Amino acid sequence: MIDVVILFAAIIFLRTWWRYWRSSTTTTGKGLKNLPPGPRGWPLVGNLIQVILQRRHFIFIIRDLRAKYGPIFTMQMGQRTMVIVTESKLIHEALVQRGPAFASRPADSPIRLVFSVGKCAINSAEYGPLWRTLRKNFVTELINPTRVKQCSWIRKWAMANHMTRIKNEAADKGFVEVMSNCRLTICSVLICLCFGAKISEERLKYIENVLKEVMLITSPQLPDFLPLLTPLFRRQMKEAKLLRRRQMECLVPLIRNRRAFVERGENPNEEMVSPVGAAYIDSLFGLQPPAGSRPQLGEEEFVTLCSEVISAGTDTSATTVEWALLHLVLNQEIQERLYKEIVACVGNKDSSLITEEDVEKMPYLDAVVKETFRRHPPGHFLLSHAAVEDTELGGYAIPKGAYVEIYTAWVTENPELWSDPGEFRPERFMEGGDGVGVDITGTRGVKMLPFGAGRRICPAWTLGMLHINLLLAKMVHAFKWFPVPGAPPDPTETYAFTVVMKNSLKAIIVAR
Ligand code: HEM
Repeated sequence: MIDVVILFAAIIFLRTWWRYWRSSTTTTGKGLKNLPPGPRGWPLVGNLIQVILQRRHFIFIIRDLRAKYGPIFTMQMGQRTMVIVTESKLIHEALVQRGPAFASRPADSPIRLVFSVGKCAINSAEYGPLWRTLRKNFVTELINPTRVKQCSWIRKWAMANHMTRIKNEAADKGFVEVMSNCRLTICSVLICLCFGAKISEERLKYIENVLKEVMLITSPQLPDFLPLLTPLFRRQMKEAKLLRRRQMECLVPLIRNRRAFVERGENPNEEMVSPVGAAYIDSLFGLQPPAGSRPQLGEEEFVTLCSEVISAGTDTSATTVEWALLHLVLNQEIQERLYKEIVACVGNKDSSLITEEDVEKMPYLDAVVKETFRRHPPGHFLLSHAAVEDTELGGYAIPKGAYVEIYTAWVTENPELWSDPGEFRPERFMEGGDGVGVDITGTRGVKMLPFGAGRRICPAWTLGMLHINLLLAKMVHAFKWFPVPGAPPDPTETYAFTVVMKNSLKAIIVAR
């Protein structure tokens, strides 16, 4: 009898606490009543255990939940309230029409805070003066057309290395691993853009691996959903701090070398290749953070801001090239049409001579890349958004603290927006197709949004496109790509920071 009474009392206590705690996750408490619908959760943990028990990545679970709950739904992941928005018009309303209302980012977990030095990165900063200062500096110093042109030799140099590397790899192994080669090449471009320096391949690979580990450790983990349990995860925090130290150790020497070079006003040399002022880090040395955010930017912040550029730009672009090549390998007709376009534009000259201006004149290449983004958006979600204050969307309450997750994959899978959405058909972006005139920035309407839309749209989307276009044009111009006999490519998806091929693409190349 006593056991029954205790059990009963415990249930009542948990229920009351659960209700209190859910309402306290909104800033006003009243938003809870009208949250979008969603799967029923368990006390304390909400839907967290249900998700864990499925043993599938969240992106695949969301696919099923969308079919059941529709355009907007809520998931209670431990203490984290997540509102998932899946429908094109609602996404446009949130990101563009009412952009400022949803332009913030939610709270960071303790481990993420170690790497973002208290949210001092463009991608994680809350919507406010610090974000504005960092983003404006990024756009004017790294992405403005003059700078992109000024740094085009970096891409030329990295792409020449790339072509030699894949040729040698094919000679050694008999095939080329697409993803690892593209990652390395893009990473070398971004490191050079950040620090103005050419570094050895060995060092490059080391930095690439450290940054990969950072992405892994900062991916959502159990205590992020149940901060109550954080004290139980001291080991993870210790590991995170050790990794942060390694990240500092590999990037700080690059920063110090560059600072000395800038202060001495030297001319470019073998190693320090960009003139003073042309590297992203040069602009950060003198950047004044807005009053009240932090006194000064130091090495910690420099490491975070440069790592963000390298990490944000590497996997996203390399993933896209891999998916595009998968389709070119599987569909030789598309590859042939692309090859013919490239030759018609640049002739049979050496592929290293294909310029950035050339790839702008290749509409079919553009169509192949857009169709790849549509069919394989690198992330099925944007980065988490947050409302700047309690608001509503689609007639439901959106509390300020909630994670607003924009599920972009459905937009491009939706048969009401795209005919035969499962087919890979670049022609849809050519005359008469259902992709003609689509605005990939989502400003005029959302039919695809690989880079997001509105205030938080990827600030480097044109640069990302340039890297992809150049890599594809040069690789297809120089070589014919085939599947490895007896080992056809496997298009199964998995999640590794971006949605990648579960078994990386291996292909045979034959010089054209
Ligand atoms: C194919 C290439 C790329 C894709 C698909 C891509 C996609 C994205 C997406 C989806 C977001 C989040 C938008 C949102 O939350 O609403 C984003 C943000 C961002 N991306 Fe990219 N990106 C690419 C290339 C790059 C490159 C090359 C860089 C740097 C050189 C970069 C830097 C950033 C930064 C700093 C942000 C944060 C923006 C903010 O929060 O204000 N991205 N990107």
